[in-house]
Amino acid sequence: MASKHSFYILTDTHYVSHRAFEPGSRSFRRREAGDQIALVASVEILRSFFDEILADKETDAVLITGDLVNSGDRLSHEDFIKELKTLTDAGKRVFVTTATHDYCGMGDDENFFTACRYTMDGTEPADPVRKAELPGLYQAFGPQQSSSVDTESGSYSLPLFEGVRLIALNDNGNGRSHCGLFDEGFRWLESEIDKANAAGETILLAVHHPVLPPWDVFAKAADFEMFGGYKRLWALMCEKGVKVIFTGHTHIQSIRKYEDDQGRAFYDVATTASGSAAGNMRKVTVDTAEKTCKVETVRIDTIRNYDTGGKSFRDYIYGLNFIGLVENSLPLAKTDWPRFLETAGCVLPADKMKDHKKLVQTAVGKLEKLKMRTLAKFGKSMSGITKEEIEALGEERALPVLFNIARHIPGGNAPYTPDTPEYKALKGTVLRAEKLVNTFKKGALDQFIPEGQNLWDVAEPFVYNNRTGDDDNITIEL
Ligand SMILES: [Fe+2]
Ligand SMILES: [Fe+2]
Repeated sequence: MASKHSFYILTDTHYVSHRAFEPGSRSFRRREAGDQIALVASVEILRSFFDEILADKETDAVLITGDLVNSGDRLSHEDFIKELKTLTDAGKRVFVTTATHDYCGMGDDENFFTACRYTMDGTEPADPVRKAELPGLYQAFGPQQSSSVDTESGSYSLPLFEGVRLIALNDNGNGRSHCGLFDEGFRWLESEIDKANAAGETILLAVHHPVLPPWDVFAKAADFEMFGGYKRLWALMCEKGVKVIFTGHTHIQSIRKYEDDQGRAFYDVATTASGSAAGNMRKVTVDTAEKTCKVETVRIDTIRNYDTGGKSFRDYIYGLNFIGLVENSLPLAKTDWPRFLETAGCVLPADKMKDHKKLVQTAVGKLEKLKMRTLAKFGKSMSGITKEEIEALGEERALPVLFNIARHIPGGNAPYTPDTPEYKALKGTVLRAEKLVNTFKKGALDQFIPEGQNLWDVAEPFVYNNRTGDDDNITIEL
């Protein structure tokens, strides 16, 4: 019996069927502008990833952890299922979980997604999928192969490989402020874990919402975006010796470790959205003899059969995203004001800016001229940066450094290690700024800062990957 088995993970595919928008629809382009992911090319992006999976003859299993479609419309679900069948027809086993984007709010919970079809300049209502329909729609992709299904949430448990059990959780709840499990779901999960442990199986968990946040401030600012019941799950995983859970939802690539006060630990391996500018999925290899789980990142460079205007996968999607639009539109403020308003208007309040041309141009000009050296000197007393390190910054401007940091968010692995002058300059700036704010109004930043932390503790993981050191790869002892 082979001891190594691999499978692929994709998440947050946010698929929008070609039938759900008119070709060239301007309204759909407007909807996409400033989002975190590509929507217009979602079909071609999914197929590009599937082509990679189909080319790998050694790997026969695929897991997709929710937000399968973008806004719960039936046409997209129907066509997404056809896409899945291209994998199953080729002999792959495909398992999915569903999440909040996969159904429409019907006024009976907090879910606010509505099904629509994009016409050239507007939208028209489309047939919505209700939450209760999802288990039936995706019956063939998990529940049918499982040994046990939780009736409350539709979560399921199945033998993924010999000696390896996948427990895939469907977020139950109200579609917004509690996306997780309730008591009954937790009891089912606990009994599945107990059965697997008794059988000596390796357990892999998967769920859409994050169990560990990509940054602590994420849970502080948006606790409702976490898996509903996440602290209960921490305790359960530690107590029962479950070492890994695969998640999505944040559209951010991150690998974090949780350790309880008895030294029992697990990892949350979060994968970025397949349509984010990071452009990747995961390949996971479980070795039942070595008792390890190796996580690798598989990137694709091109969107097949889609015109990106000559741009790479990443540059094309970055140009659509909030951060990319801001970066690309800022220089236009001085050179082409009408185009600046048009481009920036997708993500910044153009109506408020349009009467303040001079002010905006001056602010952009100052921002563009700001040097890292200036920031380093400003925060010198708080960072301990040396004269030589300040010198090493040369003429480097602050804005490209900040955009470089922002550009790394979807794909993880923040760019500046603690030994770089950029790291030190930013650390000093943040700490000095925090001190100044507190001088004027003590506690003014408390609402943004988790207890026991300072503003640099909040900012540091955006600058430097202090999670596990590598958001792309890890080998976990099971
Ligand atoms: Fe998503
Ligand atoms: Fe989500």
